[in-house]
Amino acid sequence: MVVSFIAYIAGASAFPIASENLLPWSVWFLISVIINIVLWSNVMKLLTFSLAVIWFYAFVAGLVPESSTAVNLTSLDWSDPEAVAEQGALVFNGKGQCSACHTVDTSAPKGRCPDLTDIGINAASRVPGTDAKTYLIESLYEPAKYLVPGYGKIMPEIWKAPIALSKLEIEAVIAYLQSLGGEIDPTPFDEPIDRADAGTVAAALPPVLTGDPELGKKVFVTAACISCHAVTGIESPAAGETTTDFEVVTAPDLSEIAAFNDMRYLEESVLKPSEQIVSGYGAVTVRAKGATYQGTLVSQDTEQLVVRTKTADGVEEEHTLLLSELDDEPIEDLTNLQTKGYFTLTLTPADAEVPVSGEIVSETEDTVTLKVDGEDRTFSKTDVKSQMTVITFDGDEIVGEYVSGTMDDDEIILVVDGSEEIFDTFDLEEATFTRASGKKLFVTSPMPENFPLLLSVSDMSNLLSFLSTLTGAAAEVVSEGAAEGTPAE
Ligand code: HEC
Ligand code: HEC
Repeated sequence: MVVSFIAYIAGASAFPIASENLLPWSVWFLISVIINIVLWSNVMKLLTFSLAVIWFYAFVAGLVPESSTAVNLTSLDWSDPEAVAEQGALVFNGKGQCSACHTVDTSAPKGRCPDLTDIGINAASRVPGTDAKTYLIESLYEPAKYLVPGYGKIMPEIWKAPIALSKLEIEAVIAYLQSLGGEIDPTPFDEPIDRADAGTVAAALPPVLTGDPELGKKVFVTAACISCHAVTGIESPAAGETTTDFEVVTAPDLSEIAAFNDMRYLEESVLKPSEQIVSGYGAVTVRAKGATYQGTLVSQDTEQLVVRTKTADGVEEEHTLLLSELDDEPIEDLTNLQTKGYFTLTLTPADAEVPVSGEIVSETEDTVTLKVDGEDRTFSKTDVKSQMTVITFDGDEIVGEYVSGTMDDDEIILVVDGSEEIFDTFDLEEATFTRASGKKLFVTSPMPENFPLLLSVSDMSNLLSFLSTLTGAAAEVVSEGAAEGTPAE
């Protein structure tokens, strides 16, 4: 009894329970059990029981780090590429946080990030002229450089904090990705980044003020972030009691947001929600075959898109639309076409008879480059034939090539069917001027944009401090707290 009591006192001072306490505890536990079997009494039973409980928690706590495979790579044995790929799989599912976003299972629901089944082979065809390994290296070190169509710039630079993979870990992950449908290429590579830069770049940005996470948690509730976003451990307001300031929409669960995103990303998400839109959550309005679809852009690839709409009585419907089916919309102002969401353009150069159409490849202030019949052609934005649509009081709609005049003048001159016609503006109800037309897919964030105005600087820094605690570790802290509480009883 004396031994088990001393064991309890001695062990108790070594709390919180950690794996390194496990061995002495197990020894004390065994000794006390043996002594207690010899001298059995009610007091002993009680003490043995509490020791057993403590030992059990210590044992469980000791197991966790072992089973969650905190691999510590010090070298890779390239003589066995399959083994390297297996180590990469551990990084993928563990420290790398890759599996928090990516699936490797084509039957999984289409999520916010591309499924990586067969990435080993697909990587070779993503960017023309870039081989599989180079593509994978770029995807990991500079994810924003090439975006998989339909996905936003949300993949973190995984070599930087908080994920901070070492070069060896990245090499192993690449071997694993190549093993998914492709061949593992063991050729060594140089990192396309300068690790010393990570600190310099961070220092060049304005500092993020550090706040109080507890106060930030209150802001999260009072600013109604909780109405849209779930966070483990915070109760969502009951349905119907939510704010009337905005429409509550489906939004990402933020319980683990800080495990794979840094402060900058979190800050930008709140200050400029439309800058990076998590795929599957963006809001769109598209017109196809004369009908308008307004709702959530569920997914998008190079050929089609899926929009989820809600009918007036709340029934959700999904519509799959081919990009080629989207209606051409008239464009009056040819500036910043891409930022306005246009991805194709039809225009008539001043020296041409017929209009040309193509996908927009790139644009400058004065020119736009289109892919016309597989070839890139650059057009001036100013030397284009413009059209005007006039509507008479009788409801007639006439479209013609624009020559001169506006509604403020006495007459408008258009070329209709090859001959010049003069319209008296007194007879016209409306005239709209178009310089081109194009298909457009403009995605915005349904998250309100006015938080920067609503939140004070201190609210904002407290809120960000709170968000940065959301690493998914909260659940473990809670269960550890429970374990600590038990022996005190
Ligand atoms: C916060 C979510 C997130 C995390 C974490 C993340 N990714 Fe990504 N990843 C994305 C998104 C979104 C894309 C698509 C946009 C793009 O190309 O950057 C992407 C693209 C990729 C691609 C290109 C896929 C393709 O089909 O061409 C690869 C490869 C990739 N990720 C690997 C990884 C690996 C390996 C990790 C872990 C070390 C990881 N990602 C972690 C979100 C994430
Ligand atoms: C009206 C519902 C709504 C409210 C209110 C709202 N959000 Fe969002 N939020 C969204 C949606 C939808 C997205 C996903 C689309 C996007 O990326 O913008 C999002 C994205 C985010 C992201 C990025 C998530 C990711 O997985 O990458 C963060 C972080 C975030 N919100 C934080 C906040 C905070 C903090 C507040 C309160 C100040 C807040 N949100 C209020 C709807 C909302």
